[in-house]
Amino acid sequence: MKVFHDIVSYSAWRTSLPSSASVGFVPTMGALHAGHARLLEVSREQNTHTVLSIFVNPTQFGPNEDLSKYPRTLESDLKIAEAEGVAAVFVPTESMLYPDGYSTFVTEEKLSLPLCGVFRPGHFRGVATIVLKLFNIIEADHAYFGLKDAQQFFVIQKMARDLNVRIKLTGVETVREASGLALSSRNTYLSKEERTLTAPQFYQILISAKNEFQNGGVIAAVLESARGRLAQAGFQVQYLELRSTPELTDLTAMNILPKEMGAVLAGALFLGKVRLIDNIIW
Ligand code: PAJ
Repeated sequence: MKVFHDIVSYSAWRTSLPSSASVGFVPTMGALHAGHARLLEVSREQNTHTVLSIFVNPTQFGPNEDLSKYPRTLESDLKIAEAEGVAAVFVPTESMLYPDGYSTFVTEEKLSLPLCGVFRPGHFRGVATIVLKLFNIIEADHAYFGLKDAQQFFVIQKMARDLNVRIKLTGVETVREASGLALSSRNTYLSKEERTLTAPQFYQILISAKNEFQNGGVIAAVLESARGRLAQAGFQVQYLELRSTPELTDLTAMNILPKEMGAVLAGALFLGKVRLIDNIIW
C-alpha cells in the first residue's frame, strides 16, 4: 500500500496505472471505523484499485465546531486501509489544499439549505469544495459515500451532476452497532451509558416513525410524537424531518405519505455535547 503526502507524487502513481485500471475512491476525514471500512470493501469489490483520502477539511467546520478536537488516528487508519486492500492513501496537508490566498468555493444552492444546512451554515459549501478538489486530484472512476450522511450524499450527487463530473457515485448503506446506533467517530465522545442505553433509541424511534408513516399516519403528527419521544429519552432535538428523495423537499404539509414516494426521515440530536445524525431512506 502506497501512502502519498503530496499531489505530485500521487499523480505520478495515478498516471502509472494501466488504462484498463478502474479506480474507486473513498474520501474520509480519518478516525476510520467499520463504516468507512465498508465503503473500502465495496470499492474493492467493484474496482481494480481503491484510493482512500484522509483529510480533516477545515472549510466544512463552523467557528464553534470540533475541528481542533477532531480525532486524528493515522496509524490505526493505515492499518485498517491495509487490511481492506487499499492500493493508495492520499494524506495531504492543509496548506497544500488551501494555500495562502485560496479563494474559490463550490456552493450547491438547493439541497444544501434545509436540515443540517440550517444549523451548520457553510458546511456543505466546504464539503462540496473539498470533494470536487479531491475528485480533480484523485482521478477516480467511481466514488463511495455513506448514506449515514444522506444529505451530504445528495448534495455531492447534485454538485457532480450540475458540474458535469464524470465519476460514478455510489451511496452505501449505514453500518450500525448491534444496538442500531450508527457508527460515527463522534460516538467515542459518549459515556458508556449514553452509548449503550440512550443513543440506540435514536434509530429505534426512527424505525417506529417510519412504520407509522407507512401505515398511513398523519405526517405532522407522527413527527411531533417522534420528537417528543426523543426528548423524553434524553436527546435535545435539533431537527427531525420527513423529506422526499433525492430533492429533499419538505413533506410535512402533506397529510399522509403516498406509497410510491421515495422519502428520507432525517434527524440531528444532541446527547450532552455530542451531536448525532441519522436517517432512514425508503
Ligand atoms: P467522514 O465523516 O470521515 O466520513 C467519510 C465517509 O464515511 C462518508 O461518506 C460517510 O458518510 C461515511 N460513513 C461514516 N459513518 C458511516 C457509517 N456508519 N456507515 C456507512 N458509512 C459511513 O463525510 C466526511 O468524512 C467528509 O464530509 C468528507 C466527505 C470526507 C469531505 O471532507
